[in-house]
Amino acid sequence: MSTEATARTPFNADLRKIDEAASHLRALGGPEPVLGVVLGSGLGAFVDALDELQAVPYGDLPHFPTSAVAGHAGRYVLGRCHGVPIAVMQGRVHGYEGWSMQDVAFGVRVTGRLGAKGLIVTNAAGGIHHDMVPGDLMRITDHINMTGRSPLTGRNVDELGPRFPDMTEAYDRRLSDLLERVAADGRLALRRGVYACMPGPAYETPAEIRMLRTLGADAVGMSTVPEVLAARHMGMRVVGLSVITNLAAGLSGAHLSHEEVKETADAVRSRFVDLLVRFVPRMAEALQGG
Ligand code: HPA
Repeated sequence: MSTEATARTPFNADLRKIDEAASHLRALGGPEPVLGVVLGSGLGAFVDALDELQAVPYGDLPHFPTSAVAGHAGRYVLGRCHGVPIAVMQGRVHGYEGWSMQDVAFGVRVTGRLGAKGLIVTNAAGGIHHDMVPGDLMRITDHINMTGRSPLTGRNVDELGPRFPDMTEAYDRRLSDLLERVAADGRLALRRGVYACMPGPAYETPAEIRMLRTLGADAVGMSTVPEVLAARHMGMRVVGLSVITNLAAGLSGAHLSHEEVKETADAVRSRFVDLLVRFVPRMAEALQGG
């Protein structure tokens, strides 16, 4: 018998819809993806480094939410990176566009159901820590959910994961160590820090940034956390990577703009792609117990 207060509240995921989207992708005939990648604002270029690419616009997949934000192409891409089959979400949808948290997590749910054992989530973020500068790459060590929302709200779908998933190690320790080694081998500077997810779409006020710094955040953005909650719920092992595109509000005297965010993401593109291309086969090996 269910331990929930009521059996009439909505579920926290629609397994039928998730599996319909997954079947559509499976019907393309490619191999099962070992891991998934979510590409943030202006970071879609990683897809150009893939072989045997099959790309489906989100709008052509059943039940997939679609984004209108500039810099988010909105395609589900299956391909190989150094021979490793992966699934890439090129662009994501956000809560601030009006999507539910379940919709925000939909692509990750589909990726998990396709068989991916791990997930790399990436984003553009504002730097809060005093020695972060635009252009830095930051491995996410942990997060703070400032949205007050979760994709896990609702009656739990037990086939996907437990009612109360543990978040002690939301970002996988061993895979993160591996990412640091890969970055060092490639002479790619990699910072580490705590990512705070704000609801957006307005950028933060300087007072909010001071609050976030006091709370222990090193970078701030408007994404990633819902996807990580859903991925961890499903038992996927997660690695997070932020591109610091700007100093957070009030830290530089300059005003913030989406154009600046995209410009910095463009400038960092080759280092970002280089790191992912080096890391994906190593992560795949680790996920497969190698
Ligand atoms: N705040 C929130 N989201 C962001 C920022 C920021 O400063 N930069 C890129 N995404």
